[in-house]
Parts: sequence; structure tokens; C-alpha cells
Amino acid sequence: MYPEEMNESIRRLEATRKERMKQEFPMRTAEQKKELLEGFHPDYIEASMRALAVGPNKGDRTPHELANVLEAWPVLEPGGLDLANPESDVDVLVIGGGGAGVSAALMAQETGADVLLVTKLRVGDANTVMAQGGIQAADKANDSPERHYLDVLGGGHFKNRPELARALVADAPGIIDWLEKLGVMFDKEPDGTMITIHGGGTSRKRMHAARDYTGAEIMRVLRDEFQNRDVPRTEFAAVTELLTDAKGAVSGAVLVNLETGRKCVVRAKAVILATGGCGRLHMQGFPCTNHYGATADGLVLAYRVGAKLAFIDTIQYHPTGVAYPEQILGQLITEKVRGIGAQLVNSEGNRFIYELESRDITASAIIRECKAEARGIETVTGGVGVWLDSPLIEVLKGKGSIKATLPAMYHQFERYGIEMDKVPVLTYPTQHYQNGGVLVDDTGHTGVRNLFAAGEVVGGIHGRNRLMGNSLLDILVFGRRAGKAAAEAAKAMEKAPDTGLRHMDAFKAELNKAGIPEDRKSPMLLPDYRRPEMRRPYPFLADECVQPVAR
Ligand code: FUM
Repeated sequence: MYPEEMNESIRRLEATRKERMKQEFPMRTAEQKKELLEGFHPDYIEASMRALAVGPNKGDRTPHELANVLEAWPVLEPGGLDLANPESDVDVLVIGGGGAGVSAALMAQETGADVLLVTKLRVGDANTVMAQGGIQAADKANDSPERHYLDVLGGGHFKNRPELARALVADAPGIIDWLEKLGVMFDKEPDGTMITIHGGGTSRKRMHAARDYTGAEIMRVLRDEFQNRDVPRTEFAAVTELLTDAKGAVSGAVLVNLETGRKCVVRAKAVILATGGCGRLHMQGFPCTNHYGATADGLVLAYRVGAKLAFIDTIQYHPTGVAYPEQILGQLITEKVRGIGAQLVNSEGNRFIYELESRDITASAIIRECKAEARGIETVTGGVGVWLDSPLIEVLKGKGSIKATLPAMYHQFERYGIEMDKVPVLTYPTQHYQNGGVLVDDTGHTGVRNLFAAGEVVGGIHGRNRLMGNSLLDILVFGRRAGKAAAEAAKAMEKAPDTGLRHMDAFKAELNKAGIPEDRKSPMLLPDYRRPEMRRPYPFLADECVQPVAR
């Protein structure tokens, strides 16, 4: 339960529930949306960003936190590395062990490539398992990929790369079939019909879910398939730098073993980046919904070898992160809670936004309510938020429906004595997703020869704002596309590429010219939450750990 100070506003919320149930809340007009975004969305805070001074996106604005890892010196000290004699030699190297990486590896292997997947944590330890609400696909009679396409573009403020959005929606029904065949237990009616619901910004009910742990369920079957096919993998191995040949094509990577600090060289004819997002950079001090490994490593690696990034000035703040209790601050309260009827309510007991506006609009409205209108609910720990009237779901859908449809969410709060079927939950926006990333074509190719990318590291599919359920979809669509294209590129190469680090010299010269401080290093690999005096910049790469490459 909540401290007494917070109960007064709960009483107001309960008093208005009956009336609110009957209320039709209009969607915002285009003009009102613009006003909300410009006034309250964190992306519009001028001082939160700066123009990059180096690299392919020189001059483009991005949040300081991302600029700090892009404009940074390589953490890799190449001394002692025998680049010409790699420890592993493969056709396709996949970097990242989430849904994008695993589906890319499976597809590359099916296409006949000799594959190695490396991940800095374990296979499956990634944002994919934390995805809750669902995966979109237009596979019902009243829907079509064309309608899905229009929703994707509308959500992205019509800035999306059309060919990428097109690939996303076109492959979607096939992805659901593939997942079902692999054994994903989607929610279904007793007669076997797939249950689909709305997400924010969707014109049809096309969200397929496995209750509120859809990502974990999808990753369960992907990981099983990966195990069963015995795809080679190396875990707890982080990539610190890509390798390039004399012409600048990517030809492998340098890894560091996070347990021993030992470095190792992998040569590959093609490389797929599937390293995920950047939530752990904590833009503007926001908490995040993301996995521990989400530190923008892939953006850093790609940038140094010359890949262009897209939409790096837009971050997605999920409207409903946990605002109380403090122990789970910033964790996700799935959009599905709103999708099945919960309303957003301010301290006066009133709604202030249609709950299924696209995420950037809803998040901005919550921020306005708390920061400008002073109609937020203050917590005893100095935080603020608005109520998500979850007990309303029980009124609308019947008693027991929260435990049946949102079991993970129920337990997340119940652990702290909050029973969301009886009392509302307090919410505030949280950093959730990087809308931008490495620009690719519809095969996942980055424009740097032999470098492919898939999953959250990619930018362009969702334009300036992604809709719910299109991320679980894109990791699989583009994971499989990149896996196929990388395997084919590798097959077309007659001999093994040469391996070097020339790109590092060129990048260092730019850093030098721009006066970037030499103690700023990247990739980050893992976030360090220790007190500043306890930190070491790269705990895993201490000199004493570095050993010569074993052969
Ligand atoms: O709200 C959610 O369940 C998040 C889903 C997504 O980002 O796609």
C-alpha cells in the first residue's frame, strides 16, 4: 500500500472513476500535438544536445550522453595483438545475443555460412526478454500490411525511411507464423483465434502477445532453437573495435573476455551488429527500462568505421515507467495496461490525455501535468508521477482479469505491497528506446562494405517515434534479413579478408583535431553505477589483464 500522503489523491481518483468510464476523450489535433512536443518532450530541450565535432555525422545534433561516447578515444590498445593471425576465422560474425543477433545467426547458418555469435553477457540477456506488451503484425481480415505501414509512418511523424517501414510490415505476418512454428505460446481465444489488441497509434488491433512477457516468450524459443542447432557462440566477450581491410571494408573484430581481460581477434567476411540500444546512458538523468548491456556500443563501433547514423536527435521516453516505489524506478509498465483500459489520472482525479496517443505525445502530456500544471502526485522520496487507474481494468474486463492478462506486472508491484487490481500505480516517463541508429538498407547493410546491422542499433525504420510492438517485430525482420544478406556476401568472397585497424588512426586524427579529451573513452561496454571515487574507467581492460593472443 501507499504512504498516507499519497492516499488523498487515490480517493479523488476513485470518486471520479464512474464518470470517467463514460467519458470519450478526444485525440489531440495536429496543432495541439506540436505544442505538447515542443513544450514538454525532452528531445526539444535545446541545451540537452550538441552538434558532433567528428565522424560521418559531424554537425548533427545528439544528446550529450551519446555525443560523449561517439566523440571518444578507442579503449582498445592494439599493442600485443597479432592481427594477421586471428584466433577465429568465420564467414559471419554476429555481435549481440538478443532477438536480433540470435535470429540473424540462425538465418546466416541456414543460408550456409559458418557463423560465430559473440555477446558481452549471455545469449538471451538483452532488451528482448524485457519486452512486455506484444508484437505487431497485420494478419487479421480487417487489416493489411498497407494499413500497418500507414500507422508506422504516422507514428514516426512521416520521417521513416519508406523502404525500411515497407520491409517491416511486409514480413510481419510471416514472422508470426515462424514464431508459432518455433513454439511461441501466443494468447488465443478458446477456438484458437489469435487475440490481438490496440497499441498507441494503431488503427487496427494487431498486437499479438504472450500475456505481459511477450519478449521473454519469444526469446525462450529463439534460444532453444539456437541451442538445438548448436550455433557456435562466445559469451562474456565484448567487442571493443571492429577490424577493417585496406579498402575500409569491415573484416572482423577485437574482443575482450570480460572475466579475464584477455583480448582476441576474430576475422570475418561479414559482420552483423546486433548490439541493442542506449538506455543505460540515462539521457538527461532519466531512469530507463533497459537491460544492463544497453550502452550504445554498436553505434560507437559502426561510427568509427564510417557508418552514417540516422535520427540521433530523438530518444523514446516510454510514457509509463514506474514512479513509485523507488526500488523499481523507471521500470516498464507496459502500454498493454492502457491498451486494455487503464486511464491516466492527475492529482485532482481527472484524465488529461487520450491514453493511446503515440508515446511521445502521451509522455509529453504527463510531463506537462507534473512539471507545468502542478497536478502530479508527489512521492515520499521526492519523486512525482500521475496515476494509472489499473483497478478500472477489473471493472471493465471482470474480476481477476489483471492477474490473468498482466501476471508479470502484478507481481512486479505486489512484491512491494501494491496490489494493482485494487489500487492504481504511479507512473512517469522513462527512457525506453533509441529511435535512431545506424542507417541501413532493407537488407540490413550499413553502407560500409561487409557491415550489416539489425535490431535497436538500427535507425530509420521508425522515423522519429516508434509505435509499441514494432520493435519485437523489427529485430526479427531485420535480424533475418541481415543474416541472409551477410551470409550471401560472405559466400561471394573468394578469400579471407585482411585485418587491420587503419580506421582507428583516421578517427584518432579527427579527435585530436577537435580537441576531444584523451581520457574520454568508448565503447562503454557496461554502465558503472559505483560512486565516482570507486570507479575505474575500464575495469575489464586493466593493463595487467591484457595477455598476448594465444594460438
Ligand atoms: O509498453 C510496452 O509493452 C513496450 C513495448 C514496446 O516498446 O514495443
